Amino acid sequence: MEGLSIKTSRQGLNVLVRPAKREDIPKIVEVSNSSTLPNEDLGFGASTTSPFRDVSRLTSAWKDPNIVRGEEVLVAEMDGRIVGCVTLEDRGAELELVDIDVPRELQGKGIGTRLVQSVENRARSEQKRAVTCGTSRNAQGVAWKSLPWWQHLGYRITHEEENQWTRSIGPGAREIRMRKDLD
Ligand SMILES: CC(C)(COP(=O)(O)OP(=O)(O)OC[C@H]1O[C@@H](n2cnc3c(N)ncnc32)[C@H](O)[C@@H]1OP(=O)(O)O)[C@@H](O)C(=O)NCCC(=O)NCCS
Repeated sequence: MEGLSIKTSRQGLNVLVRPAKREDIPKIVEVSNSSTLPNEDLGFGASTTSPFRDVSRLTSAWKDPNIVRGEEVLVAEMDGRIVGCVTLEDRGAELELVDIDVPRELQGKGIGTRLVQSVENRARSEQKRAVTCGTSRNAQGVAWKSLPWWQHLGYRITHEEENQWTRSIGPGAREIRMRKDLD
């Protein structure tokens, strides 16, 4: 795991990506709850049931050092403050980036990009073929707003599917699956 502080090219932000710790739980919940407007993701994600939305649920789900539901939790830290969170799942030849959040007031400064780069570096160091991820399309056929951001970062759509997660969102929702092949 990288532990070096890396200066992003944008606005000279000094962002450290590190494994999360149990004591980070309240801040992680704050980040998860502040990355979207209330109800903005209705129809796009079953966020209300996520352990990341509630301190006591996340505390119960937490397995030391930094595992939740089999996913590894990393945080982005800037000036000692937690400013982002990402979760990962080992899928053999690929590393799945399950979820990523940056608080709304800090979006657009390069923190999310830095988190994704860190995940890609981690995948490379483990000789993974690709980083994979997904976003949703609601029942009306509208893609979640992060889709162009993923594409900007080099993620290409492989297919769309219905699965357990999309069924938890509701009928007609689909997951847009993406991947970025690593060198
Ligand atoms: C998606 C999210 C993690 C991105 O984090 P962020 O810190 O705002 O992203 P960044 O500041 O690193 O993005 C900046 C880069 O993306 C580009 N970008 C931003 N929005 C874009 C868009 N809609 N389309 C294309 N490119 C976009 C910027 O031009 C910039 O590119 P550059 O670095 O080449 O100049 C954050 O917005 C978030 O938490 N959203 C709510 C939760 C969410 O949607 N998570 C993803 C679920 S699939």
